[in-house]
Amino acid sequence: MNKTIQPVRAPDLRRMKRRGEKIAMLTAYDFTMARLLDRAGVDVLLVGDSLGMVVLGYETTVPVTLDMMVHHAAAAARGAQRALVVADMPFMTYRTSVPAALSNAARLIQQGGAAAVKIEGGHAVLEVAQRLVESGIPVMGHLGLTPQAVHQLGGFRKQAKHPREASRLLSDARALEAAGVFAVVLEVIPEDLAAEVSGALEIPTIGIGAGPYCDGQVLVSHDVFGLYDECAPGFVKQYAQLGRQMTEAAEAYAREVRRGDYPAAAKSRKRDSISR
Ligand code: KIV
Repeated sequence: MNKTIQPVRAPDLRRMKRRGEKIAMLTAYDFTMARLLDRAGVDVLLVGDSLGMVVLGYETTVPVTLDMMVHHAAAAARGAQRALVVADMPFMTYRTSVPAALSNAARLIQQGGAAAVKIEGGHAVLEVAQRLVESGIPVMGHLGLTPQAVHQLGGFRKQAKHPREASRLLSDARALEAAGVFAVVLEVIPEDLAAEVSGALEIPTIGIGAGPYCDGQVLVSHDVFGLYDECAPGFVKQYAQLGRQMTEAAEAYAREVRRGDYPAAAKSRKRDSISR
C-alpha cells in the first residue's frame, strides 16, 4: 500500500455530504478495472452483483452466488488503493437468518477484501443491517429499484411513483439510517423523492437514475464505457465507446495475423525477455 494515499473509509462519505462534496461511485469487478478507476479518483468502487449481467451474461442478478462475489471482490480489492471497496451481498444471502447474513458478510470482508457490504431492501433487512453494523461491518443500503427483487417487481422499472410507495421509501431510508447504514443507494425513483430523501438523511444518498439531487452518483462501468449495449438504461451517459474500439482492435489484430503482418519479421532479435 502506498503510504501517501489516504484511503476513503465508510465514515468519510458522511463528512463529504456535510461538506457538500459529491460522491463518485462506479462498479468494478476485477483487478484491472478497479486499478484504472481508482487511479481516476473514483471515491467508491462497488463490486455489484450486476456482474452477473455485464460480466457473466445472465439476464438478471439473481443467479449470482456468494462464491462469485467473493472471487470478484478479491480481484477488485487488489486493484484499489484509495477507493472504498463495497461488495454486494447477493440474492438471499442476507435474508434467511441473521447468523447466515453475518457469516456471508464476513466472507466478503475477510476473503473478498471489501471494506463494506451493500444490501437491498428496507424494513425487511433492518435487523440484519443493525447486526452487521454492530459487528463492525459497514453497510450500504439500497432502495427503489432493487434488482434482486426483479421477479416481484415485474421487471426493471421505475419505483415509488405513487405517494404511498414514496412515503414508504422515505420511512425505509430513515429506518436504515437509524440502523446504522453509512449510505444508501436510490435506484430509479422520481428525482423529487430522491431530493426529499437526501434532505431528510444525514447519511449520503447515492443515486442511479434518480436525478441530480442525491449526494453522489453510481453507474455500472460497462454502461459508462460503452462495453455493454444489451440494455443500457436511458439515464446512462456513455463517456466512451470502448466496446466498439475493442472490436475494431480485435478485427485489426485478426486481419494482421491472417495476413502474416503480425508478428513482424524480426530485423535483429536482441530482446529475449518476455516480461510485460
Ligand atoms: O449491482 C450493482 O451494480 C448495483 C448498482 C446498480 C447500484 O447495485
